[in-house]
Amino acid sequence: MTFNNILFEEDNSIATITINRPNKLNALNKETIAELHRAVKLAEEDGDINVIIITGSGEKAFVAGADISEFANFSVEEGTKLAANGHKMLFDFIENLSKPVIAAVNGFALGGGLELAMACHFRLASDNAKMGLPEVSLGVIPGYGGTQRLPQLIGKGRAMEMIMTAGMIDANKALSYGLVNYVTTQDELLPFCKKIAAKICNNSPVAISSAIQAVNSNFKSGVNGYDVEIKEFGKCFGTADFIEGTTAFLEKRKANFTGE
Ligand code: COA
Repeated sequence: MTFNNILFEEDNSIATITINRPNKLNALNKETIAELHRAVKLAEEDGDINVIIITGSGEKAFVAGADISEFANFSVEEGTKLAANGHKMLFDFIENLSKPVIAAVNGFALGGGLELAMACHFRLASDNAKMGLPEVSLGVIPGYGGTQRLPQLIGKGRAMEMIMTAGMIDANKALSYGLVNYVTTQDELLPFCKKIAAKICNNSPVAISSAIQAVNSNFKSGVNGYDVEIKEFGKCFGTADFIEGTTAFLEKRKANFTGE
């Protein structure tokens, strides 16, 4: 599969997807969103891949937002469609993927860039990273899940302040807010993400998929997360990974999961 704006690498069961428009600070245009969808789907369907890392190319930006030049003349209908398509193709798609997705925030993560990082299951940042939702400075609001996921991650008051001021926070503030799990140097960011990904790869892929669904269900209106947890927990007992995991423990050996 070929991409114009994405680099796709696979190594040791870890796929690294790099958004590659450095001259536009990796801004998400329509083509990039479509390619990201295809790349993430490709990684999900590839039985040799267990974890996906998303990052930006160059030393300056993860993603500096949705591509402003593409929507500057949009009508109400076009704006509504833009957000709805984005949710479906990329942001909700990643959040509900059956495989873990980690954001390696290597620089500016603004607007749609921060929204992309927040749709991932967790985030790490390099010490030069700057994060914010500057949409109200353009006369719009975050439209790729930012008004929902930012309060979930850092609390309503802090999210309101970030959204209303359109300001940026640095990596250490993001760490203190719980928006990112770790801050590293730029050089260490990808190696450290891969170290965490490798730990995830030791565990049962089917159980991880169930855990993603159960955790996400807490944030879905009309869904009882405890009920989803009970159902997913029960399902695990019918999997080969459960038999392998418990047998390996009792036999005092390392489990060899097949993801079935
Ligand atoms: N959409 C389209 N193009 C973008 C972009 C975006 N969100 N963010 C950056 N770019 C482009 C710039 O237009 C510029 O292109 P050009 O060289 O063809 O003029 C290039 O990327 C480099 O950006 P530049 O602004 O020159 O870099 P900078 O270091 O001076 O500033 C930022 C960096 C991130 C502060 C600034 O680019 C910015 O504010 N970007 C928009 C952020 C934003 O509002 N995002 C939310 C969108 S909803």
